[in-house]
Amino acid sequence: MDINDIRNRICDSVVGKVTTAMAATEYVKAGMNVGVSGFTPSGYPKAVPLALAERYKGQDFKINIWSGASLGPEIDEALVEHIDRRLPYQTNNAMRKAINEGKVKYTDMHLSHAAQVARYGYMANRKDVELAIIETCLVKEIPGDDKRVALIPTTSMGNSSSWVQSAKQVIVEVNTSQPVELDGMHDSYVPLDPPCRKPIPVEKPEDRIGTPYIPCELDKIVAVVPCDVTDKTRPLAAIDEDSKKMGENLVAFFKDEVKAGRLPANLLPLQSGVGGVANAVINGLVNSDFKDLTVYTEVIQDGMFDLIDAGKLRIASGTALSPSPDCLKKFKENINFYKPHLMLRPQEIANSPEVARRIGIIAMNTAIEVDIYGNVNSTHINGTKLMNGIGGSGDFARNGYLTVFFTTSMAKKGAVSSVVPFCSHIDHTEHDVDVIVSERGVADLRGLTPKERALVIIDKIANPKYQPLLLDYFKRACEACGNSQTPHILEEAFSFHERAVKTGTMEK
Ligand code: COA
Repeated sequence: MDINDIRNRICDSVVGKVTTAMAATEYVKAGMNVGVSGFTPSGYPKAVPLALAERYKGQDFKINIWSGASLGPEIDEALVEHIDRRLPYQTNNAMRKAINEGKVKYTDMHLSHAAQVARYGYMANRKDVELAIIETCLVKEIPGDDKRVALIPTTSMGNSSSWVQSAKQVIVEVNTSQPVELDGMHDSYVPLDPPCRKPIPVEKPEDRIGTPYIPCELDKIVAVVPCDVTDKTRPLAAIDEDSKKMGENLVAFFKDEVKAGRLPANLLPLQSGVGGVANAVINGLVNSDFKDLTVYTEVIQDGMFDLIDAGKLRIASGTALSPSPDCLKKFKENINFYKPHLMLRPQEIANSPEVARRIGIIAMNTAIEVDIYGNVNSTHINGTKLMNGIGGSGDFARNGYLTVFFTTSMAKKGAVSSVVPFCSHIDHTEHDVDVIVSERGVADLRGLTPKERALVIIDKIANPKYQPLLLDYFKRACEACGNSQTPHILEEAFSFHERAVKTGTMEK
């Protein structure tokens, strides 16, 4: 690609900065904190990372990659050997392997924290972003401002606004595979830091509080690179019977809440997590009677496009479009239909605890396992191996009006119970969890004591295959602890699965 391919997408003031991806790699120095655009594999830079991988193949060259969230294979796979530190979230197999082998140092963070923590100087090397690489669909003049230009992001905002603000140098990728109609869909806003921070003035999901572009000083832009590589969004698993049942259980629960006057008829702004289960649950709403819904969330997945198609969703505010490849195609072909219903914000705002609490979101995220007292593990398999990361689940869970977690009652085709005596890793404590939904039912934990919660969780959401073992554990724990506040037989709690194998309840 060359300048002619992007000339109609960039303003005159940056024409002189157009160069090749390989030439732009000159600005990426070993040891740098590189802040990239991108959130879920959407809107991340591709040309410069691929050129870096080519240039430093087999050489000892390492940088720190800070993103919005997960990135595509052009970074998390192609560059994996060249990444020293990675944060705040990932979902890539090669990156997961490198992290679990101790080759990449990974800091798993609440996604609303990453940009502010960088600005505070709290990162491991106590430095902020030094170089930003940002994917755009357009670079425009800002009327009346000859010192700055407007960067129009693409399919995600992530931490781009803050990275551009903090970095001394910025490389801009202009991606011609991204539609120019994305222009107008973003709302860029970087909060001031304490002691100067002001309230973030979002009162409704549709409120705009910033600019439809990321302002960037012209002097900072060291290279403008053409790119035509597409986002590598992931296909979503087909909606299985268990996920469908969880969606139905949720809809029935919402209906009861509306009847009892605890939720308005069109619910409250919905937040829905990542992955197949979360998407399937949102899909459950498509077939419900609920209408005039709003979404204030992190990722906008297929189910939300389906809700828009069904005329049931007024506005979805998020930080990334994360459709499956099929849904991405549908979005691009009908972009002007979807545009009025979608808004992309920086993740500091999309995941803001302050906003979540103010507008009263319904937080809905997926657990790997839950324990009988309501603690949730979202991140680790068997307590030691990282799956993805906490993502935004903690931003929302702690601050929602209503906090729901989903889990199937069993994992690994029934070989593992997803309800255990004590989670092998805890991301969300019992204090942040209102309701747990499995395919078996709904455990409404609001206002209950730990011992009451244990009985409800075992009864409503655990699988009958594991219920006797869990009840037996709970009863013996109560006896062993003299009926204390949170009874446990600690040495046994963590060997629950061993016991399940011994009793023949669980496969090895
Ligand atoms: N024990 C062992 N493995 C388990 C398990 C358990 N109790 N529960 C799930 N798993 C495994 C599954 O087998 C699957 O493994 P595989 O990829 O090898 O097949 C994997 O975990 C993912 O589970 P899956 O059932 O496919 O769920 P999902 O796609 O809905 O993802 C999470 C579930 C928890 C991994 C995902 O939601 C996540 O990363 N959450 C954390 C971040 C977050 O909540 N972000 C949202 C903020 S907006």
